[in-house]
Amino acid sequence: MFSRQFDKAVKVGGAVAGATGAAIFLIVYFSMWNDNADVGYRPQQPVPFSHKMHVGTLQISCQYCHAGVESSAHSPIPSTQTCMNCHTLVKAESPKLKVVRESFESGQPIEWVRIHKLPDYAHFNHSRHIRAQIDCKSCHGPIEEMGVVSQFKPLSMGWCIDCHRKPESGIIGARPISGVFTGRMHNVKNLKDSAYIFTSIEAQIGKSTPMISPSYGQMISPLPAHVVAGIPHPKSAGIGPETCSTCHY
Ligand code: HEC
Ligand code: HEC
Ligand code: HEC
Ligand code: HEC
Ligand code: HEC
Repeated sequence: MFSRQFDKAVKVGGAVAGATGAAIFLIVYFSMWNDNADVGYRPQQPVPFSHKMHVGTLQISCQYCHAGVESSAHSPIPSTQTCMNCHTLVKAESPKLKVVRESFESGQPIEWVRIHKLPDYAHFNHSRHIRAQIDCKSCHGPIEEMGVVSQFKPLSMGWCIDCHRKPESGIIGARPISGVFTGRMHNVKNLKDSAYIFTSIEAQIGKSTPMISPSYGQMISPLPAHVVAGIPHPKSAGIGPETCSTCHY
């Protein structure tokens, strides 16, 4: 009788331990598989373009090159023309810019390798996030310190939902270097040292357009009034959606 109970206890205990072990294994396995997906992905690009130099040192804002990010789903990679605004004068003979000059002459776009990419069944729209005053850095990390861009966050569903539930934990508020709210193309301060660069760049300043009356385009739900009013406090942006159909349709 004793031994039977003992026997049963061992069996139940063994089953519980086995199930717990399996559950832990699955949780760890799936969180690793999901949350580390593609973090650090850093492909070789056709031109040795450095964000660290252009943004970190020269203080050219994100918006100067990735223009339109506040009003469309995607954040476009700049055209060759944008590079040539400066590089017809700056480093005009550099071998590192050979591919850029060839692209400019032939009209064929440079074949940049795409780094951040969601699967087709998941939809992400930059504009809504940018207008909630969420800085690029919240999702892309310190791009201005990267000589070569690499993926900083997993872009997994768990990552999206985590921030939607607790925005205050994931959001870094809009910074001037992103250029979206200030409308500044760049901070010329650091370029004044070099007269010839400065002259070429100063010509661009007038084209800078701040976000005064944005059109809210393809958005699903109405923007909260405090976001429209532009209170520069991202934590007041409200929580993001968790309904399946906002990201999958
Ligand atoms: C002078 C132009 C320029 C500026 C300014 C600039 N970028 Fe870029 N960005 C590029 C180019 C060109 C690429 C494609 C090559 C590469 O990945 O380095 C790129 C790529 C990226 C990518 C990767 C895109 C992909 O394929 O997934 C991200 C993210 C990005 N930039 C964010 C930023 C942020 C954030 C800022 C401001 C802090 C910024 N960029 C400022 C030109 C620029
Ligand atoms: C809330 C998170 C988030 C913020 C904020 C954000 N991005 Fe992104 N970004 C993403 C995701 C997710 C993708 C992949 C989108 C896809 O595959 O459809 C992406 C893709 C990109 C790309 C590749 C081209 C594209 O649009 O697919 C560039 C360039 C880029 N982001 C630049 C920026 C810049 C510049 C800012 C700030 C002005 C910014 N991002 C702010 C999440 C973010
Ligand atoms: C607003 C002006 C400006 C724009 C726009 C710009 N650059 Fe530059 N870039 C510079 C300056 C200034 C330097 C030189 C910095 C130094 O070495 O003192 C430079 C340096 C470079 C270099 C290194 C050249 C060498 O010989 O060391 C490369 C490569 C480059 N840029 C690529 C690009 C590409 C690609 C684009 C377009 C996506 C671009 N740049 C857009 C201003 C600009
Ligand atoms: C850093 C925080 C953060 C991350 C990361 C983030 N979001 Fe959001 N998202 C928000 C906030 C905050 C809002 C609500 C914005 C507002 O109130 O206007 C939002 C709103 C949205 C909306 C609603 C747009 C609409 O038109 O109703 C969608 C869809 C969305 N996010 C998709 C995504 C997807 C997909 C990802 C992951 C690839 C993601 N988000 C990652 C913070 C985030
Ligand atoms: C905030 C945006 C968002 C919401 C809300 C959301 N998803 Fe997702 N979902 C994503 C993204 C982004 C991916 C792609 C993840 C990846 O590439 O690893 C994804 C992936 C998936 C996958 C593929 C398996 C996986 O984990 O990669 C399934 C299944 C899925 N979602 C179902 C759902 C269901 C069911 C709901 C509602 C309960 C939901 N999603 C709500 C953004 C979202």
